[in-house]
Amino acid sequence: MPIDIHLNGTPLGHEIRGVDLNNLDEQTFKDIDDAYKTYGVVVIRDQKLTPDQQLNFSRRFGSLDRFVFDRFNMKENPEIFIVSNLLDDGKPVGMEDAGRYWHSDMWYVATPPRGSFLYAVEVPHDGTRPLGDTYFASTRYAYETLSEPLKEQVNQLSAVFSSRKYGEYVGHTPEKAKDNIYLKEVVAAREKIKNNEITHPLVRTHPITGKKSLHVVQGVISQVIGLSAQDSEELIDTLVNHVIRPEVVYRHVWRVGDIVLWDNYSALHRATGDFKLPQRRHMHRTTLSAPKIN
Ligand SMILES: [Fe+2]
Repeated sequence: MPIDIHLNGTPLGHEIRGVDLNNLDEQTFKDIDDAYKTYGVVVIRDQKLTPDQQLNFSRRFGSLDRFVFDRFNMKENPEIFIVSNLLDDGKPVGMEDAGRYWHSDMWYVATPPRGSFLYAVEVPHDGTRPLGDTYFASTRYAYETLSEPLKEQVNQLSAVFSSRKYGEYVGHTPEKAKDNIYLKEVVAAREKIKNNEITHPLVRTHPITGKKSLHVVQGVISQVIGLSAQDSEELIDTLVNHVIRPEVVYRHVWRVGDIVLWDNYSALHRATGDFKLPQRRHMHRTTLSAPKIN
């Protein structure tokens, strides 16, 4: 029986219903994998996944990366990255602020991962509605809908993705972190990547689907190679704003038991920080490696 896919009216963000990820036959897995390739963001609700079960499901797609900040990885299962605002004995059990700017994951490494699978263990609520939504926007659709002259231009360009610029942009500095228990941990963890400057092309080709997409991240590109500082900034603003046009953004409202699969080649995402303890948010992320190209 074919899987039940519900479209949501944006260029990405499709929900698959009626599957149990702990009990997937080969054909159903293949259908989910095909949907992941086609749509870039896939939502599957009402799952019950232990860390081992999430790892088993995730590994069916390929090998996994560890999140670069080991401090936030689960000790007994280090391929699970904990996104959480919970405290244990006064210390954060995971990373609370998992990216409130438009980004693809781990843009600051030479080979960023293909995708991330985020599973909701606890979802904050204000009594009326869930909090901590995640927004997604399609970089593939953005590339495809660029004007021809702009497409021609960006096809030729590369840019520097700078951790230093990012630190300033989001305010992850030791001064700001002084009185913030979560930020302190992030600033300490970022030590090892804080000077990373990686040059990536502004257009990338998906290694599996062959589709092209824009490769931009908000607030981190310090220089488009060959352009003046001002032209560089204007171009990146234009491109980011094109990707995140409100009419094409999918907003995911979380429920406990959701797992959302996103493809970093195809989409940008951003978190919202509209909750705080005693509103609890606790999630487990697995990170799918970029495929090896021979
Ligand atoms: Fe992220």
